[in-house]
Amino acid sequence: MVPIKEFADGLASIPEKQFTDQAVLDYLRWNRVDVLSLASYLYFSGEHYTRNLIHRTPLFELIAICWETGQRSAIHNHRDQRCWMAVAYGKVQVQNFRLVRKNAATGFCELESSTHFVIDLDSPQEVDPAEPIHQVVNPHSFGSRAVTLHVYSRPFDTCEIYDLKTEHYEDVKLVNTTEYGVVKTAMKLEKVTLLPAPDTVHRL
Ligand SMILES: [Fe+2]
Repeated sequence: MVPIKEFADGLASIPEKQFTDQAVLDYLRWNRVDVLSLASYLYFSGEHYTRNLIHRTPLFELIAICWETGQRSAIHNHRDQRCWMAVAYGKVQVQNFRLVRKNAATGFCELESSTHFVIDLDSPQEVDPAEPIHQVVNPHSFGSRAVTLHVYSRPFDTCEIYDLKTEHYEDVKLVNTTEYGVVKTAMKLEKVTLLPAPDTVHRL
């Protein structure tokens, strides 16, 4: 288990040519982050999940997302950006969607559900470039807050979000809740220190 600073420095030391889907996924698999070292970045809100920027280089952004029980992302894609995700605390469910059709002129879209899986401490994942539309959920049934670590390459500040009910999609600007531990929002936040789950401690 590594502290977040060591994790970020190691990621930043991967040369751009070697910053491949598999290399970054392997890095996440072999470098599990100590949740105690994330204390400066863990802000939760009852209103919305929070995005907390930890590290940014010209090649990637490293963000911790804090999920209260029951919170979920919009259905979204990453506009051809590469994206990897690991869990630092708890677990989350990812639902993928297949784009049936869309119309850029009207904003119409039709999606259908495809695969879904759970990401926990042992199973980092990358976003499938062939099927990049997904939703991340921390369902009530998991009974715990969750913290996920996201590597986005390259940094970006917009994504497309999809609404199944209205069959409409649109661009949204992504806003960080905190950056380098500094609060950037008026949203009511709770700063939280999380202890490693007991079964994780056994594996130290
Ligand atoms: Fe995503």
